[in-house]
Amino acid sequence: MELVLGIESSCDETAAALVTGDRKIIAQRIASQDEHHAPYGGVVPEIAARAHAERLAPMIEGVLKDAAVGLSDCDAIAATAGPGLIGGVMVGLVSAKALAMASDKPLIAINHLEGHALSPRLADPTLDFPYTLLLVSGGHCQILLVEGVGRYRRLATTIDDALGEAFDKTAKILGLGFPGGPAVERLAREGDGSAVPLPRPLAGSKEPHFSFAGLKSAVLRAFQSGNYAPQDIAASFQQAAIDCVTDRLRFALMQHGTTPTLVVAGGVASNAAIRAALEDLAESYAMRFTAPPPKLCTDNAAMIAWAGCERLGQSDPLDFVARPRWPL
Ligand code: KG4
Ligand code: ZN
Repeated sequence: MELVLGIESSCDETAAALVTGDRKIIAQRIASQDEHHAPYGGVVPEIAARAHAERLAPMIEGVLKDAAVGLSDCDAIAATAGPGLIGGVMVGLVSAKALAMASDKPLIAINHLEGHALSPRLADPTLDFPYTLLLVSGGHCQILLVEGVGRYRRLATTIDDALGEAFDKTAKILGLGFPGGPAVERLAREGDGSAVPLPRPLAGSKEPHFSFAGLKSAVLRAFQSGNYAPQDIAASFQQAAIDCVTDRLRFALMQHGTTPTLVVAGGVASNAAIRAALEDLAESYAMRFTAPPPKLCTDNAAMIAWAGCERLGQSDPLDFVARPRWPL
């Protein structure tokens, strides 16, 4: 069976994984840098790049040991080549180039967004193309029609903040620390989602866009008013986010038609309330719903290795340049 080594280092997770062509994650390691960045309330690119440089090589050695395989057993080395924080991306990509050169195996440069976009197929063997994908992470918020490997049609994107960014900013306002998404979700469970009147930016709009900047400002005003409990702000923010996302998905489905399956991926896809709302939405359109398990939603190397499996047979040159921006 084909075997691909995957490397991820585009933000604040250093990760390596070995994945087979028949969807088995035979080894994976991941190191979060939360404690490095928490004092600053966000990811500091230079600190991230240094931490990746320190951790990545022993981590790759570790996954090969865990699986008791060598580089010679791999069919390709896949690494995130962008988009992301360029210092970190370069650490991962240069490491992959060196390993590819030393082992005479093909290098596959993976777009991090493609890693997220194909991750549901690693988790769900029955998921065929085409599918409608809501890709929600710390840096992106898009609706994509995934027609095949390398065939992505963007149906909607954000004109300001990404959804994960809105979660992180809400967490910061509420003093919940970093990273914010999971903390907001936890607090929201104790609150009333209809307690705080918050806007649903662009809901009902005939343009295929998302916007979250106004929602974040409204959260700040609600907090500063002193009239609302933090758990009610968290729950109301999360409800507003859900309403925005489902409204925009309805618009996209109306414009472009349905597909057999509705899929969500990216870090925010680990949010249980969002998953539940999307499951209901899918049902109302007679679509199947699928989402990777939370650990495959947030940044990881298994999704990069899997994207490498999907692209097996291709290879990229050793002078492939890391890309801070790289639209799908
Ligand atoms: O995909 P990801 O790990 O990294 C990027 O590619 O950006 O996504 C990280 C984002 C962060 O903004 C984080 O706060 C958000 O995903 N996130 C969540 C949850 N878990 C992570 N947002 C809402 N609810 C969650 N449970
Ligand atoms: Zn990501």
